[in-house]
Amino acid sequence: MVGVIGLGYVGLPLATAFAEAGFPVLGFDTDPSKVEALRAGRCYIRHLDAGRLAALVADGRLEPTTDLDRLGEPDALLLCVPTPLTPQREPDLSFVRSTAEAVARRLRPGQLVILESTTYPGTTEEVLRPALEAGGLAAEEDFLLAYSPEREDPGNPVHSTRSTPKVVGGMGAASRDAAVALYETIVPRVVAVSSPFLVEATTPTENIFRAVNIALVNELKLVFDRMGIDVWEVLDAAATKPFGFMRFDPGPGWGGHCIPVDPFYLSWKAREHGQTARFVELAGEVNVQMPEHVVGKVLRALNDRGKPVRGSRVLVLGLAYKKNVDDPRESPAFEVIDRLLGLGARVSYHDPFIPKAPAMRTWPELPAMESVALTAETLQGADAVVLITDHEGVDYALVAEHAPLVIDTRGVYREARANVVKA
Ligand SMILES: NC(=O)c1ccc[n+]([C@@H]2O[C@H](COP(=O)([O-])OP(=O)(O)OC[C@H]3O[C@@H](n4cnc5c(N)ncnc54)[C@H](O)[C@@H]3O)[C@@H](O)[C@H]2O)c1
Repeated sequence: MVGVIGLGYVGLPLATAFAEAGFPVLGFDTDPSKVEALRAGRCYIRHLDAGRLAALVADGRLEPTTDLDRLGEPDALLLCVPTPLTPQREPDLSFVRSTAEAVARRLRPGQLVILESTTYPGTTEEVLRPALEAGGLAAEEDFLLAYSPEREDPGNPVHSTRSTPKVVGGMGAASRDAAVALYETIVPRVVAVSSPFLVEATTPTENIFRAVNIALVNELKLVFDRMGIDVWEVLDAAATKPFGFMRFDPGPGWGGHCIPVDPFYLSWKAREHGQTARFVELAGEVNVQMPEHVVGKVLRALNDRGKPVRGSRVLVLGLAYKKNVDDPRESPAFEVIDRLLGLGARVSYHDPFIPKAPAMRTWPELPAMESVALTAETLQGADAVVLITDHEGVDYALVAEHAPLVIDTRGVYREARANVVKA
């Protein structure tokens, strides 16, 4: 039996993959509303196949539970709990620690424990191992311990949990081999490396690569904007080079639970070794200033039309951090909304996948908001539409036809239009 702890964006697809591979799966989550939803056949993550999931639950192949006393039942336990940053942008391992303590109390000989959460090099050895061994059993001798982080790309139409190779590092050969054998049942390729430590360095490398490249195109956007050059036209042209160039697109900032978070796990750990991860810090500096740039564009465009931002009606189009997902975590939309509200604008939003703006840990003061319908009337009633997320299926022709002003942060409108400002 496989146990998955944390049934979120990572844990739920993983639990599904193991259930479909024929394992009985026990899915643990401390949030009773998630467990109730799954038991009732409802899926709270839009891009997952709700029908498939409901069938697995109905057949008893995937059993969701809040009962941590059952942690001793599965042969393998996969920890998929959050690893956020503190308000001071330092690693917050409280979820990993509390989960490890809960597991340690029920750990039995022979169990395989695998950490899937993204973290800094050293977590498995320095944090997880002692917490688990506090129960009296020894890693590699009595129980098995490995690290293998998820490489989930929510909404990716090509790559899923089941098609993406997994990298695995074990506390010793027995742990490594057990983890490899387990993952080989659900993914096409498992790459075993020398230690958990090495895998813990691999994931930040993958995420920093993205963070830095996103910062690079965002900075180029600022530079080209000043020079009157359309960055999207430049990227379309550059992307015709068949080698030595990989396209990244600029936007209103960065978002999601990985890219704006994980790189800082490594830079924090690097400081302990007297080293500064300058590219990480620089990527952060560039990306976090993008919402301010967007708001500046809104101010200037309204000003050009003789309108002050105070009292203007601004419709934010898209709350999710990227297109076609319902995940608003770390979305730059919230900072744009917060700043516009602070300037006295009357802000509403439309997101087809997020009917109600959830309460955000980092934006506790934002008022409760619900997605408004995207109609000719709503668009005509707005002084400005700020396009933050380029979801497919949104009628962008309707937007351009009826909105008096559109601030486009995603390059949706390639042709020049009098009422569209690229930001
Ligand atoms: N979202 C991604 O695409 C992605 C990709 C790669 C890696 N990761 C990493 O995977 C980890 C999980 O991310 P996520 O996006 O799935 O988070 P998430 O917030 O969607 O899910 C985490 C779940 O864990 C539950 N939880 C919290 N504490 C718990 C506990 N003590 N016991 C049981 N359940 C608990 C929460 O209720 C939540 O449902 C993070 O470390 C993240 O960095 C995420």
